[in-house]
Amino acid sequence: MATWDLRGMKHHVLICNGGTCLRHGGDDVTTAVREEIARLGLDDAVHTTRTRCNGRCQDACVMIVYPQGIWYRQMTPERAKEVVRAHLGEGVPMREWATYEYEGELVLTPAGEREAPSGKRKTEHAAKGVKG
Ligand code: FES
Repeated sequence: MATWDLRGMKHHVLICNGGTCLRHGGDDVTTAVREEIARLGLDDAVHTTRTRCNGRCQDACVMIVYPQGIWYRQMTPERAKEVVRAHLGEGVPMREWATYEYEGELVLTPAGEREAPSGKRKTEHAAKGVKG
């Protein structure tokens, strides 16, 4: 998909196509997201980009929606289509599937807090110099 004119874009969706996410259906998630965007006529409002690893492999398949900075976890084609309909189409993020959200900086969502591995928090990783 070539995008020559980004005016009118309201969302940028990053779909992880790193190795772990691909093993967890990243290709199918990517196809499902793009098909649902097209089906809903959102092509002029949503730009998608496949990425390499986003450093959250335990959440595979990962999808990130800007400008809200919401990091969705464990996306399947069905879940990802629901995110497209609710978040991108109706402006209602699916926070139950989000681990992080941007509030001036990325913060853990309540769902992310519940599922943070070993109780580790972003600030602990940063203090240790650990990425992701
Ligand atoms: S491969 Fe997707 S977060 Fe690492």
